[in-house]
Amino acid sequence: MIEVSKLSFTYPDGTRALDDVTLSVPEGSFQAIMGANGSGKSTLLRQLNGLLKSPPGSVLVGGLTVDRKSFEQVNRFTGFVFQDPNDQIFAPTVREDIGYGPRNLGLDGDEVSRRVSWAAERVGISDLLDRPIHHLSYGQKKSLSIAGVLAMKPRLLILDEPTASLDPMGEKRIMRLLLELNREGMTVVMATHDVDLIPLYADRVCLLRRGRVVVGGGLREVFADQQLIEDCNLRLPRIAYLFDMFPDLAELPLTVGMARRELERRMGGVMGAPCGVDEHENHCLT
Ligand SMILES: Nc1ncnc2c1ncn2[C@@H]1O[C@H](COP(=O)(O)OP(=O)(O)OP(=O)(O)O)[C@@H](O)[C@H]1O
Ligand SMILES: [Mg+2]
Repeated sequence: MIEVSKLSFTYPDGTRALDDVTLSVPEGSFQAIMGANGSGKSTLLRQLNGLLKSPPGSVLVGGLTVDRKSFEQVNRFTGFVFQDPNDQIFAPTVREDIGYGPRNLGLDGDEVSRRVSWAAERVGISDLLDRPIHHLSYGQKKSLSIAGVLAMKPRLLILDEPTASLDPMGEKRIMRLLLELNREGMTVVMATHDVDLIPLYADRVCLLRRGRVVVGGGLREVFADQQLIEDCNLRLPRIAYLFDMFPDLAELPLTVGMARRELERRMGGVMGAPCGVDEHENHCLT
C-alpha cells in the first residue's frame, strides 16, 4: 500500500527532518510510526499524502507516485487525521464538519446523513452532532477530526497521534475502532510515541530517531533492544520493566495480556479467573 524509498526531506529553514527513510507498508497492516518528539513522524506522514513535496519517485501510495498530479487521486482513498484537530475541522457544527468529506465525494444527501450518523456513533460523539465546533473541548475536537475522515470510508487511514489528549475510555474506543476497521481490511498507519499502546494494536513498527529509521519490522524485533529504545528517548512498555525480576525470561512481555500469560505459566495455572484484563488483549496477542 505504501512504499517509501530513500526519502530525505529538509525544511526551508535547513532543518533536516527525514534522512534516507525507506519503509514498506503492506495493504491490510496496522503500522505504527514510533519516535520521540521531533523525530520526524509528522513530517513522514505529511509526505504520504502529498502535503509536503517529496523527491520524484520516493513515495508511492496505492501504486501511485505521490506528487501534485496524483494528489487528488491519492486523497480519494486516503484519510488523513492531523496531529492538531484545529488544522482539520472548520465547519460551523459537528454534523456539518463530518458531512463535509462525504459531500465532497459527491454522495447524495441521504448517504451523507447515514455516513455522518455512522461515523459519529463509531467515534462516540453522536450526542455532539448539533454543537458548534468552537464549543468543543480539545479531546472532543480530536474525536471529531477522526469521525470526519472515517465518514469518507478510506482504504488507507493515516493518523498522527490519534489518541493524544483523549481520556482513557476515549482512547480505548478509538483504538478498538481502528483495530476493527483494520480487521475489516483498512490499512492503518499511526504515528505515536505511546509505547504502551503500540504493542496492543500495531502489527508492524517503524522506529525513527532524528529523521532516520533505526529499526523496523514486527513488534518483537523492534522492542528487542531496550538500550536502543531508550537511546531514542523512549522506553519499553511499563509492564516489561516489572518482568526484569525474572532473569531467565527469553522475551519481556509487552502488554498486560502477555504478562498475565507468562505469570500463569510460571504459577502452573493457580491464578483466578481473568479480572480487569479485557478479552481484546487475550485475543489480539496470542
Ligand atoms: N515547518 C517546519 N519548519 C522547520 N522545521 C520543522 C517544521 N516542522 C517540523 N520541523 C522540524 O522537523 C523535525 C521533525 O518534526 P516532526 O514534527 O516531524 O516531529 P514529530 O516526530 O512529529 O514530533 P512530535 O512527537 O513532537 O509530534 C523537528 O526537528 C522539527 O523541529
Ligand atoms: Mg508530530
